[in-house]
Amino acid sequence: MSRSHLPVLYPEVLAGLKPAPGGKYIDGTLGAGGHAAGILTRSSLDGRLLGMDRDPAALEAARAALAPFGERATTVRASYTQMADAARGFAPVDGILLDLGLSSLQLDDPARGFAFQSDGPLDMRFDPESGMTAAEIVNDWPLDELTDVLHAYGEERHNRRIAQAIGAARPLKTTRQLAEVIRNAVGGRRERIHPATRTFQALRIAVNGELEAVTGVLPIAVSLLKPGGRLAVISFHSLEDRIVKDYFRRQARGPQDDPSAAAPAHFVPVLNEITRKPSVASAEEIARNPRARSARLRIVEKL
Ligand SMILES: C[S@@+](CC[C@H](N)C(=O)[O-])C[C@H]1O[C@@H](n2cnc3c(N)ncnc32)[C@H](O)[C@@H]1O
Repeated sequence: MSRSHLPVLYPEVLAGLKPAPGGKYIDGTLGAGGHAAGILTRSSLDGRLLGMDRDPAALEAARAALAPFGERATTVRASYTQMADAARGFAPVDGILLDLGLSSLQLDDPARGFAFQSDGPLDMRFDPESGMTAAEIVNDWPLDELTDVLHAYGEERHNRRIAQAIGAARPLKTTRQLAEVIRNAVGGRRERIHPATRTFQALRIAVNGELEAVTGVLPIAVSLLKPGGRLAVISFHSLEDRIVKDYFRRQARGPQDDPSAAAPAHFVPVLNEITRKPSVASAEEIARNPRARSARLRIVEKL
Protein backbone atom coordinates (compact mmCIF):
# COMPACT_ATOMS: atom_id res chain seq x y z
CA MET A 1 0.00 0.00 0.00
CA SER A 2 1.46 3.39 -0.94
CA ARG A 3 1.45 6.13 1.71
CA SER A 4 -1.14 8.15 -0.21
CA HIS A 5 -3.58 5.24 0.09
CA LEU A 6 -3.13 4.58 3.79
CA PRO A 7 -6.48 4.59 5.59
CA VAL A 8 -7.20 7.22 8.23
CA LEU A 9 -5.10 7.06 11.44
CA TYR A 10 -3.57 3.80 10.22
CA PRO A 11 -0.52 3.58 12.51
CA GLU A 12 -2.59 4.78 15.48
CA VAL A 13 -5.26 2.09 14.90
CA LEU A 14 -2.65 -0.67 14.66
CA ALA A 15 -0.75 0.58 17.72
CA GLY A 16 -4.05 0.66 19.62
CA LEU A 17 -5.40 -2.73 18.58
CA LYS A 18 -1.98 -4.44 18.87
CA PRO A 19 -2.79 -7.27 16.44
CA ALA A 20 -0.77 -10.39 17.28
CA PRO A 21 -0.30 -13.88 15.79
CA GLY A 22 -3.20 -16.17 16.62
CA GLY A 23 -5.47 -13.20 17.41
CA LYS A 24 -9.05 -12.79 16.25
CA TYR A 25 -10.34 -9.44 15.03
CA ILE A 26 -13.52 -7.89 13.67
CA ASP A 27 -13.61 -4.93 11.30
CA GLY A 28 -17.23 -3.71 11.30
CA THR A 29 -16.63 -1.16 8.52
CA LEU A 30 -14.37 -2.83 5.96
CA GLY A 31 -14.50 -0.12 3.29
CA ALA A 32 -11.62 -0.79 0.91
CA GLY A 33 -10.03 -3.13 3.46
CA GLY A 34 -6.96 -1.02 4.25
CA HIS A 35 -7.13 -1.27 8.05
CA ALA A 36 -8.17 -4.91 7.77
CA ALA A 37 -5.11 -5.73 5.64
CA GLY A 38 -2.92 -4.04 8.25
CA ILE A 39 -4.50 -6.09 11.04
CA LEU A 40 -3.99 -9.33 9.08
CA THR A 41 -0.38 -8.44 8.24
CA ARG A 42 0.43 -7.69 11.90
CA SER A 43 -1.27 -10.88 13.09
CA SER A 44 0.56 -13.16 10.63
CA LEU A 45 0.78 -16.09 10.27
CA ASP A 46 -2.45 -17.28 11.77
CA GLY A 47 -4.47 -14.28 13.02
CA ARG A 48 -8.01 -14.14 11.64
CA LEU A 49 -10.35 -11.33 10.73
CA LEU A 50 -14.09 -11.11 10.22
CA GLY A 51 -14.97 -8.07 8.12
CA MET A 52 -18.39 -6.50 7.57
CA ASP A 53 -19.83 -3.75 5.39
CA ARG A 54 -23.32 -2.82 4.21
CA ASP A 55 -22.05 -1.69 0.83
CA PRO A 56 -21.59 -4.39 -1.84
CA ALA A 57 -19.07 -2.21 -3.73
CA ALA A 58 -16.96 -1.84 -0.58
CA LEU A 59 -17.10 -5.58 0.03
CA GLU A 60 -15.89 -6.27 -3.48
CA ALA A 61 -12.94 -3.90 -3.05
CA ALA A 62 -12.16 -5.34 0.39
CA ARG A 63 -12.31 -8.92 -0.89
CA ALA A 64 -9.71 -8.05 -3.54
CA ALA A 65 -7.49 -6.31 -0.96
CA LEU A 66 -7.76 -9.25 1.45
CA ALA A 67 -7.39 -12.05 -1.13
CA PRO A 68 -3.67 -12.50 -0.32
CA PHE A 69 -4.65 -13.52 3.23
CA GLY A 70 -6.76 -16.44 1.98
CA GLU A 71 -8.94 -18.10 4.58
CA ARG A 72 -7.64 -15.90 7.37
CA ALA A 73 -10.17 -13.27 6.22
CA THR A 74 -13.95 -13.74 6.11
CA THR A 75 -16.20 -11.01 4.72
CA VAL A 76 -19.89 -10.55 5.35
CA ARG A 77 -22.37 -8.13 3.81
CA ALA A 78 -24.31 -6.83 6.77
CA SER A 79 -24.67 -3.85 9.05
CA TYR A 80 -22.27 -3.84 11.96
CA THR A 81 -25.38 -3.77 14.15
CA GLN A 82 -25.67 -7.47 13.16
CA MET A 83 -22.18 -8.15 14.54
CA ALA A 84 -23.26 -10.60 17.22
CA ASP A 85 -24.94 -12.84 14.63
CA ALA A 86 -22.07 -12.53 12.15
CA ALA A 87 -19.52 -13.41 14.86
CA ARG A 88 -21.35 -16.50 16.14
CA GLY A 89 -18.70 -19.22 16.41
CA PHE A 90 -15.91 -16.64 15.94
CA ALA A 91 -16.17 -14.43 19.05
CA PRO A 92 -14.85 -13.71 21.63
CA VAL A 93 -12.22 -11.63 19.87
CA ASP A 94 -9.06 -9.69 20.68
CA GLY A 95 -9.93 -6.51 18.83
CA ILE A 96 -12.72 -4.70 17.01
CA LEU A 97 -12.49 -1.69 14.70
CA LEU A 98 -15.27 0.68 13.66
CA ASP A 99 -14.16 3.33 11.17
CA LEU A 100 -17.44 5.21 10.90
CA GLY A 101 -18.70 7.38 8.12
CA LEU A 102 -18.16 7.01 4.43
CA SER A 103 -15.24 5.77 2.39
CA SER A 104 -13.48 7.62 -0.42
CA LEU A 105 -14.86 4.94 -2.76
CA GLN A 106 -18.35 6.16 -1.88
CA LEU A 107 -17.54 9.86 -1.81
CA ASP A 108 -15.74 9.75 -5.15
CA ASP A 109 -18.55 7.94 -7.01
CA PRO A 110 -21.10 10.58 -8.16
CA ALA A 111 -23.74 7.86 -8.70
CA ARG A 112 -23.89 7.28 -4.92
CA GLY A 113 -25.05 10.84 -4.30
CA PHE A 114 -22.82 11.62 -1.30
CA ALA A 115 -20.91 14.57 -2.78
CA PHE A 116 -22.19 18.05 -3.51
CA GLN A 117 -19.12 18.82 -5.63
CA SER A 118 -20.25 16.37 -8.33
CA ASP A 119 -23.62 15.66 -9.90
CA GLY A 120 -25.53 12.51 -9.05
CA PRO A 121 -28.88 11.24 -7.81
CA LEU A 122 -29.95 12.12 -4.25
CA ASP A 123 -29.27 8.63 -2.89
CA MET A 124 -26.70 8.53 0.00
CA ARG A 125 -27.47 4.96 1.10
CA PHE A 126 -24.53 2.87 2.31
CA ASP A 127 -26.51 -0.11 1.07
CA PRO A 128 -27.79 1.06 -2.32
CA GLU A 129 -30.22 -1.85 -2.51
CA SER A 130 -32.37 -1.16 0.53
CA GLY A 131 -33.94 1.59 2.55
CA MET A 132 -34.98 5.17 2.05
CA THR A 133 -32.99 7.54 -0.20
CA ALA A 134 -32.06 11.16 0.45
CA ALA A 135 -34.49 12.12 -2.36
CA GLU A 136 -37.39 10.84 -0.27
CA ILE A 137 -36.46 13.05 2.67
CA VAL A 138 -35.76 16.07 0.46
CA ASN A 139 -38.92 15.78 -1.64
CA ASP A 140 -41.51 14.00 0.51
CA TRP A 141 -40.96 14.84 4.16
CA PRO A 142 -42.98 17.61 5.83
CA LEU A 143 -40.84 20.75 6.06
CA ASP A 144 -40.84 20.83 9.85
CA GLU A 145 -39.37 17.29 9.92
CA LEU A 146 -36.78 18.29 7.34
CA THR A 147 -35.94 21.32 9.49
CA ASP A 148 -35.49 19.04 12.52
CA VAL A 149 -33.14 16.72 10.59
CA LEU A 150 -30.98 19.66 9.49
CA HIS A 151 -30.89 20.98 13.03
CA ALA A 152 -30.30 17.69 14.86
CA TYR A 153 -27.97 15.85 12.46
CA GLY A 154 -26.30 18.77 10.67
CA GLU A 155 -26.17 21.25 13.56
CA GLU A 156 -27.16 23.63 10.75
CA ARG A 157 -27.94 27.14 12.01
CA HIS A 158 -29.88 28.00 8.85
CA ASN A 159 -32.08 24.89 9.13
CA ARG A 160 -35.42 26.63 8.67
CA ARG A 161 -34.27 28.85 5.83
CA ILE A 162 -32.75 25.87 3.95
CA ALA A 163 -35.82 23.68 4.51
CA GLN A 164 -38.09 26.45 3.18
CA ALA A 165 -35.90 26.87 0.09
CA ILE A 166 -35.94 23.11 -0.53
CA GLY A 167 -39.74 23.11 -0.16
CA ALA A 168 -40.05 25.89 -2.75
CA ALA A 169 -37.73 24.11 -5.21
CA ARG A 170 -39.29 20.63 -4.99
CA PRO A 171 -38.91 18.24 -6.67
CA LEU A 172 -35.10 18.11 -6.51
CA LYS A 173 -33.36 15.32 -8.35
CA THR A 174 -29.61 15.76 -8.12
CA THR A 175 -26.89 16.59 -5.62
CA ARG A 176 -25.86 19.64 -7.63
CA GLN A 177 -29.42 21.02 -7.70
CA LEU A 178 -29.65 20.61 -3.94
CA ALA A 179 -26.26 22.25 -3.36
CA GLU A 180 -27.35 25.20 -5.54
CA VAL A 181 -30.64 25.64 -3.66
CA ILE A 182 -28.72 25.71 -0.38
CA ARG A 183 -26.12 28.13 -1.68
CA ASN A 184 -28.85 30.48 -2.90
CA ALA A 185 -30.75 30.17 0.39
CA VAL A 186 -27.87 31.00 2.72
CA GLY A 187 -26.09 33.27 0.29
CA GLY A 188 -22.40 33.87 0.02
CA ARG A 189 -21.77 34.10 3.77
CA ARG A 190 -18.08 33.81 4.36
CA GLU A 191 -17.90 30.32 5.82
CA ARG A 192 -14.93 28.01 6.16
CA ILE A 193 -16.91 25.14 4.65
CA HIS A 194 -19.25 24.87 1.64
CA PRO A 195 -22.77 25.99 2.65
CA ALA A 196 -24.17 22.53 1.71
CA THR A 197 -21.77 20.57 3.95
CA ARG A 198 -24.01 20.38 7.02
CA THR A 199 -27.17 19.59 5.03
CA PHE A 200 -25.45 16.73 3.21
CA GLN A 201 -24.11 15.37 6.51
CA ALA A 202 -27.59 15.59 8.07
CA LEU A 203 -29.27 13.78 5.18
CA ARG A 204 -26.64 11.02 5.16
CA ILE A 205 -27.02 10.43 8.90
CA ALA A 206 -30.82 10.28 8.58
CA VAL A 207 -30.80 8.04 5.49
CA ASN A 208 -28.50 5.48 7.11
CA GLY A 209 -29.73 5.73 10.69
CA GLU A 210 -26.11 6.34 11.63
CA LEU A 211 -26.51 7.58 15.20
CA GLU A 212 -28.86 4.74 16.14
CA ALA A 213 -26.42 2.26 14.60
CA VAL A 214 -23.42 3.55 16.59
CA THR A 215 -25.41 3.72 19.79
CA GLY A 216 -26.60 0.15 19.29
CA VAL A 217 -23.29 -1.42 18.28
CA LEU A 218 -21.11 -0.24 21.18
CA PRO A 219 -22.49 -2.61 23.86
CA ILE A 220 -22.63 -5.43 21.31
CA ALA A 221 -18.98 -4.92 20.39
CA VAL A 222 -17.91 -4.82 24.03
CA SER A 223 -19.82 -8.05 24.70
CA LEU A 224 -17.86 -9.78 21.91
CA LEU A 225 -14.42 -8.87 23.28
CA LYS A 226 -12.25 -11.15 25.41
CA PRO A 227 -11.05 -9.62 28.68
CA GLY A 228 -8.05 -7.52 27.60
CA GLY A 229 -9.53 -7.17 24.09
CA ARG A 230 -9.68 -3.70 22.56
CA LEU A 231 -12.30 -1.68 20.71
CA ALA A 232 -11.17 1.19 18.47
CA VAL A 233 -13.69 3.65 17.03
CA ILE A 234 -12.96 6.42 14.53
CA SER A 235 -15.66 9.06 14.19
CA PHE A 236 -15.86 11.97 11.77
CA HIS A 237 -18.30 14.36 13.36
CA SER A 238 -19.05 15.60 16.83
CA LEU A 239 -22.47 13.90 17.17
CA GLU A 240 -20.91 10.47 16.62
CA ASP A 241 -17.87 11.20 18.76
CA ARG A 242 -20.08 12.33 21.64
CA ILE A 243 -21.96 9.02 21.60
CA VAL A 244 -18.70 7.06 21.64
CA LYS A 245 -17.08 9.26 24.29
CA ASP A 246 -20.08 9.15 26.62
CA TYR A 247 -20.48 5.37 26.33
CA PHE A 248 -16.79 4.70 26.97
CA ARG A 249 -16.76 7.07 29.96
CA ARG A 250 -19.87 5.59 31.54
CA GLN A 251 -18.50 2.04 31.23
CA ALA A 252 -15.09 3.09 32.54
CA ARG A 253 -15.92 5.69 35.17
CA GLY A 254 -19.58 5.21 36.08
CA PRO A 255 -22.60 7.50 35.57
CA GLN A 256 -21.45 10.89 34.32
CA ASP A 257 -23.86 13.47 35.76
CA ASP A 258 -20.82 15.16 37.19
CA PRO A 259 -17.67 14.05 35.34
CA SER A 260 -15.42 15.42 38.10
CA ALA A 261 -17.16 13.41 40.86
CA ALA A 262 -15.92 9.99 41.96
CA ALA A 263 -17.81 6.96 40.59
CA PRO A 264 -20.51 5.61 42.91
CA ALA A 265 -19.26 2.99 45.39
CA HIS A 266 -21.23 0.15 43.76
CA PHE A 267 -19.94 0.93 40.25
CA VAL A 268 -17.95 -1.88 38.61
CA PRO A 269 -16.03 -0.64 35.56
CA VAL A 270 -16.30 -2.71 32.40
CA LEU A 271 -13.79 -0.79 30.27
CA ASN A 272 -10.47 0.95 30.64
CA GLU A 273 -10.06 4.07 28.49
CA ILE A 274 -6.78 3.77 26.59
CA THR A 275 -7.33 7.20 25.02
CA ARG A 276 -8.88 9.68 27.49
CA LYS A 277 -8.47 12.30 24.78
CA PRO A 278 -9.08 11.10 21.20
CA SER A 279 -6.13 10.61 18.85
CA VAL A 280 -6.21 12.93 15.86
CA ALA A 281 -4.38 12.91 12.55
CA SER A 282 -0.91 14.45 12.28
CA ALA A 283 -0.37 17.56 10.15
CA GLU A 284 1.44 15.34 7.65
CA GLU A 285 -1.57 13.01 7.34
CA ILE A 286 -3.98 15.94 6.95
CA ALA A 287 -1.80 17.40 4.20
CA ARG A 288 -1.95 14.05 2.41
CA ASN A 289 -5.63 13.42 3.11
CA PRO A 290 -7.74 16.45 4.10
CA ARG A 291 -10.65 14.19 5.20
CA ALA A 292 -8.49 13.02 8.10
CA ARG A 293 -8.87 16.51 9.62
CA SER A 294 -12.11 15.61 11.39
CA ALA A 295 -11.18 12.03 12.42
CA ARG A 296 -11.20 11.19 16.17
CA LEU A 297 -9.95 7.81 17.37
CA ARG A 298 -11.00 6.46 20.78
CA ILE A 299 -9.80 3.13 22.15
CA VAL A 300 -10.95 1.12 25.16
CA GLU A 301 -9.85 -2.18 26.67
CA LYS A 302 -12.30 -4.63 28.20
CA LEU A 303 -11.50 -5.42 31.81
C1 LIG B 1 -14.63 5.11 6.46
S1 LIG B 1 -15.09 3.68 5.59
C2 LIG B 1 -14.01 2.43 6.17
C3 LIG B 1 -12.65 2.44 5.54
C4 LIG B 1 -11.79 1.27 5.96
N1 LIG B 1 -11.42 1.33 7.35
C5 LIG B 1 -10.58 1.12 5.07
O1 LIG B 1 -9.48 0.86 5.61
O2 LIG B 1 -10.70 1.24 3.86
C6 LIG B 1 -16.59 3.26 6.34
C7 LIG B 1 -17.32 2.06 5.75
O3 LIG B 1 -18.30 1.70 6.70
C8 LIG B 1 -19.44 1.25 5.99
N2 LIG B 1 -20.58 1.36 6.89
C9 LIG B 1 -21.22 2.47 7.31
N3 LIG B 1 -22.21 2.15 8.15
C10 LIG B 1 -22.18 0.79 8.27
C11 LIG B 1 -22.94 -0.14 9.02
N4 LIG B 1 -23.96 0.23 9.81
N5 LIG B 1 -22.60 -1.44 8.93
C12 LIG B 1 -21.58 -1.86 8.14
N6 LIG B 1 -20.83 -1.02 7.40
C13 LIG B 1 -21.13 0.29 7.47
C14 LIG B 1 -19.52 2.12 4.78
O4 LIG B 1 -20.24 1.46 3.75
C15 LIG B 1 -18.03 2.31 4.44
O5 LIG B 1 -17.60 1.37 3.48
